[in-house]
Order: sequence, then structure tokens, then C-alpha cells
Amino acid sequence: MIKGITRVAGGPGGDALVLIGSEKTAVIDCGMAYCAPLMVEKVKKVLEGRPLDYMLSSHTHYDHIGGLAYLRQEWPNLICVGNTHGQAVLKREGALKAIRNLSESAAKKYLNESYQPLTYRDEDLRIDQVVKDGDIISLGDRHLFVLETPGHTNCSLSYYLEEERFMIPCESVGCYVGNRHMVVPILTGFQDTITSIERCRDFNPQLISSPHYGMVRNITPQQYFELALNAAMDMRDFILELYRQGMTQEEMVQACQERYWKGETAKEQPLMAFLINAKAAITVICREFGENQ
Ligand SMILES: [Fe+2]
Repeated sequence: MIKGITRVAGGPGGDALVLIGSEKTAVIDCGMAYCAPLMVEKVKKVLEGRPLDYMLSSHTHYDHIGGLAYLRQEWPNLICVGNTHGQAVLKREGALKAIRNLSESAAKKYLNESYQPLTYRDEDLRIDQVVKDGDIISLGDRHLFVLETPGHTNCSLSYYLEEERFMIPCESVGCYVGNRHMVVPILTGFQDTITSIERCRDFNPQLISSPHYGMVRNITPQQYFELALNAAMDMRDFILELYRQGMTQEEMVQACQERYWKGETAKEQPLMAFLINAKAAITVICREFGENQ
């Protein structure tokens, strides 16, 4: 781990990456709501009395932004950073409702008997500061370059810590699941996904922290991007082949499950989430390659 950079988690799916600069402090993402109180305690410990200045969002999915309201309770001056899409998403009643429903389901699953309904306020889930591609967030002696990297969502942001050549790619660029396996959850765009991976690769980082995984040590950053590109293109070719065989969307989802939902992927990703993502990937890939679903 690099000095001043600490991964904390309040529980499974409760990841936050704490970055300490000479003037400002930040977390990148803040995980699910159910385990946020413990995540906040861990962040406090790492900060040793300093305030938390920024929450830098990678995107607005519930398992990345669910802890935001709990961070605000501890640090009311906290600034949540995201792009214009993210800000718009968190203004939509439907999106806030979906975040709450998914957060509640996760709380029931992970807390079991100690489950209690979540008490956070929807208005605390908001982007305070809008950034765009190429913006730089200064922590004093550390600077984070903002990359808009769509493909998973349109609000997906990756961050590059210039001093340490440390890349924190978002889920558009893939989720490493260990053992040289990569899942690339394509939800909004295939070509966007490829472009996002290539853009991160072109920074030539020395070290990568992967979503839900942490520091990737057993492969090089260049291998990481290669795995992501191959995984995305493999999925595209497979889906288009199924389509050409005349399969229905349901049959295609089934075929994707048989091919991809196994080994490290099945261990790391619940089947429900996999199936939702597969359906989205099929829709997007067929649309982009001229096939109507
Ligand atoms: Fe996500």
C-alpha cells in the first residue's frame, strides 16, 4: 500500500479508499449503506482527527454511494464529487428509490437478525461539485486527474493520482476478481467501454486499485487493461454469435450464464446481478452492432 492511501470497508460491499494529502483528504467511493457506520469509524481512525473533505464518486450505484449520508453525518462540510450525469441521476426520485430498495435488500441479507430499516435521508445522496474530464482535484501534495469513463454508466469516473502513477479505474474499465479473471459490466455502451479502458491504459499507471478488489499485485497494469479489453471483446463476439443463431434474449442470457457465471466470477458476483448485467450487455451490444433486440 502507498503511504497515506488506505482501503477500508465496513463489510462486504462496503469499500472506501481513503487518500490523505497535505491539505485535503478524500475517499473514493463509500460502499453500501448497511455497513456504513463501521466504514465511517474506520475512516475516522485513518484520518486521526483531520476532517474528510471529499467523497469522490466512481458512479452512483448503491454499492458505491450508499455510505454517503453516513459520511455527511460525521463531516457535514463534506463535498461529494461527480459528473453532470451523476448529479442528475441523484435528483431523480426513481433512482433514489432504487438505491434505497437495493440498500435495504443488502442490509437484510448481511445483517440478518440485527437488521433494522435504514434511516438515511435521500437528500444526503447528492453530488455537490460537478467535475468533467480533465479536471484536477488537489489534495495539496497530491493531485487526482479526473477521467470520464462511461460504459458501465454515464456517470462513471476514474481517478489517476499523478504523483504515484496510481490509477483507480471505475467499473467501466473492469472488475478484477482474482486469478487473472476480469468481469467487465457493460451496461450503457460497448464502444464507450473500449474507449474508457484504452484511455486508462494510455496513462501507463504503475499500480491499480480495482473496484471491489483493491490493489492488484499479481498482474501488471498493462495486463490488467489487456484482460479487460479481451473480456469485453469476447463478450461482444459471443453475444453477436448467439444473435446470429436466432436466439431470443432469454436464451442469450441463459447462454451467457453458462459461459461466464462460473469460477471466480460466480464467487464474487450474485447470480441476480450477473443476469441483470448480461441482459443490459446483450441489449447494448446488439444495438451498437445494428441488431435490434
Ligand atoms: Fe456499478
